[in-house]
Amino acid sequence: MSRYRLQVKSINKVFTSRKNFKKKEFHAVKDVSFNLHEDEVIAIVGESGSGKSTTARILTNLIKSTSGDVLLDGVSIYDKSLRKLLPEKIQMIFQDPFAALNPHHTVGYAIGRPLVLKHKTEGSVREKVIELLERVGLTPAEDFIEKYPFQLSGGQKQRVVIARVLGLEPEVIIADEPTSMLDVSIGIEIMNLLLDLKEKRKLSYILITHNLGSARYMADRIMVMYAGEIVEIGDSEEIVKNPKHPYTKLLLHSSPDPWKDENIEMEIIEPTDSTLPATGCSFQHRCPFVTEACRSGSISFYEVENGRQVRCNLYAKELVNS
Ligand SMILES: Nc1ncnc2c1ncn2[C@@H]1O[C@H](COP(=O)(O)OP(=O)(O)OP(=O)(O)O)[C@@H](O)[C@H]1O
Ligand SMILES: [Mg+2]
Repeated sequence: MSRYRLQVKSINKVFTSRKNFKKKEFHAVKDVSFNLHEDEVIAIVGESGSGKSTTARILTNLIKSTSGDVLLDGVSIYDKSLRKLLPEKIQMIFQDPFAALNPHHTVGYAIGRPLVLKHKTEGSVREKVIELLERVGLTPAEDFIEKYPFQLSGGQKQRVVIARVLGLEPEVIIADEPTSMLDVSIGIEIMNLLLDLKEKRKLSYILITHNLGSARYMADRIMVMYAGEIVEIGDSEEIVKNPKHPYTKLLLHSSPDPWKDENIEMEIIEPTDSTLPATGCSFQHRCPFVTEACRSGSISFYEVENGRQVRCNLYAKELVNS
């Protein structure tokens, strides 16, 4: 396997707020660690509020982690040497291409402006913008360069956003639900475009999605998050075919996936309480396999086959055997 592009080391994010002079804390990301290889796509899946976007924002240093570190090519993203370069090296594509583009600026300006800021030369920028528009399939490029966002479809806007991101020649692209506001067919086109661009350049992606079908289609590995924690991580094919963590099973059970090989028999348990348990497994209230051991102490990761890691007592040999 290729070398590590990103090494995420035990990051935590605690948001603090004040209500009636009382300090309230919310632990949104808990002890998240994983490595992203050069040329690899990892999909982060999990329900709303599970900490996916917060993790992404920490990786791009849009928000500072409460603790932990993130290394890009071996250098901490908090290191002075990366302060200016990080926004170019790790780029984000957001869910809403409508909000990402300024309605007062043409496509040419939107893509060209970061290039001017980066290279500080106006001369070659138009050529580069045309090349980028062609690369994302907006052709003939001359027709698009003078257009304003309101003259484009949602899929075309997302292509403009991708062209702008590519112009900065990032090493890592983090796409936070990049196709959720687009029609299914346009969403598939955008996913294919991202995969195609990955083949041509040594890009690494983190794709955040609610859709396990897209995760399986796009990603080498899937990372499942629940209540701020990674609960399962491993090869995407294997996770979709044979999920291990009860929450992953629940996710797969509740998502309509045309590629699903078999139906997983599992009763859907809705969240019963918005407050999370103070000790033990975060998923204990919803888990059909809960035991006394799950209600106390911290739950460890267990490695089950082919590098798959699962944070669940069901896979602890000593507990299984006892
Ligand atoms: N700035 C903030 N201040 C306080 N709490 C926050 C802040 N940002 C996020 N949170 C909380 O952290 C938790 C995780 O939020 P996050 O946006 O990472 O979830 P998500 O997995 O991306 O969800 P979604 O799928 O809905 O986008 C949520 O409960 C959210 O309310
Ligand atoms: Mg989000």
